[in-house]
Amino acid sequence: MSSTAVLGCLWGDEAKAKIVDVLGANADIVVRFQGGSNAGHTIYSDGQKYILHTLPSGILYPHTVCVIGSGVVLDVFSLLEEMQALEQRGIHLQDRLLIDMRAALVLPLHKDLDAASEDEAQQYKIGTTRRGIGPAYADDTARVGLRLNDLYHGEYLAGRLDNLYRYHHQKSTVQEMETLINELKEAGEKLQPYVAQTDTYLRKKYAAGARILFEGAQGTLLDLTYGTYPFVTSSHTMVGGISVGAGIPFKMVDKIIGVYKAYATRVGEGPFPTELKTAPAEQIRQQGNEYGSTTGRPRRVGWFDAVAAKYTSDLNGLDSLAVTLLDVLSGLPEVKICTAYQIDGKRITDYPSDPFLLAKAVPEFISLNGWEDDISACTKVGALPKSAQDYIIAIRDLLKVPVEIISVGHERGQTIFLNS
Ligand code: IMP
Repeated sequence: MSSTAVLGCLWGDEAKAKIVDVLGANADIVVRFQGGSNAGHTIYSDGQKYILHTLPSGILYPHTVCVIGSGVVLDVFSLLEEMQALEQRGIHLQDRLLIDMRAALVLPLHKDLDAASEDEAQQYKIGTTRRGIGPAYADDTARVGLRLNDLYHGEYLAGRLDNLYRYHHQKSTVQEMETLINELKEAGEKLQPYVAQTDTYLRKKYAAGARILFEGAQGTLLDLTYGTYPFVTSSHTMVGGISVGAGIPFKMVDKIIGVYKAYATRVGEGPFPTELKTAPAEQIRQQGNEYGSTTGRPRRVGWFDAVAAKYTSDLNGLDSLAVTLLDVLSGLPEVKICTAYQIDGKRITDYPSDPFLLAKAVPEFISLNGWEDDISACTKVGALPKSAQDYIIAIRDLLKVPVEIISVGHERGQTIFLNS
């Protein structure tokens, strides 16, 4: 298999970055294909913590080339800060980073629009990361947006910016506009060595046998169409997003790994049928450090929802599962898995995308024994307590997909491969 996709299959924050980082040891190229700086991908390497927002999680390995595909929305200022912070920590990016020329730009205007729409919403606030993601994708779709390549065409850039401000009925002084144009051009110059037509690059490399990892951001339940709309992000987080956002045919994705937390979390608003409002929510939140890495917000916490998980597994056509943060559940006397919803007196096992039904869903749980032992040093599945093994088996049987990876801690070594 020369290409593998790693997709978050809940509401994001499934510790995908750790899985991508671990698999990155055997990859030549790591590709981001959607989302933007709303992502907060945390990686621990040699006891050091890195949080990546736009750069792919393969960046810590000197041997990988990292690609930011055309489907990513690019805040050039935050990207440059991220690049500079890595350079200062000795991670060199020269000849290792390619950014697609067509990536749509997230401008300061988009962040203002994002914040204003959240602040002004009377109802149905989404709880966005306020990184301008939605407005940037919307402008791209409306064909009024700017793209990375526009930074190298001064007159066109100025004209398009003027159009964009008019489109949004935003006023700016000549001085403000000049400053913005100069800052954008300066950012463009710094990024120029990395700008490429990455789809062509990827197809050629794949044909030549390169090992490619596609790194999803956010999770399938936040997919613009298949997630819990409108409480979603503005990109396609499900498998189909790879083809469009990286510019490759879908048959170029050889294997799809779905990443699931051993429990469930969600940041922002929206339905969450298995949410825990009482104990052991706080215990799980503390043990799992469940605070957003981009916004610092406490995450909502709940039991593993096999109804929603089966939906995302089927939607993505998963080949295998990575179950992460299993260690966080240690010390709980019992662990629960939701296996059905009760809606209007009916037992439902097929996830309903209808938000009005979902809002009424009362989860039906199976209860399994918890485990006391600290499992964070286990490197083989046989070393896990029997009840932890039973928990993994239950997830496998409910989703009908083999579990390939179990993560029991932040560090690369705290990973169990089941086929080894
Ligand atoms: P946006 O992507 O900033 O527009 O936010 C839309 C929704 O997606 C909100 O509920 C966010 O909390 C959520 N979201 C966006 N990025 C992430 C992420 O990386 N992890 C978890 N949730 C996210």
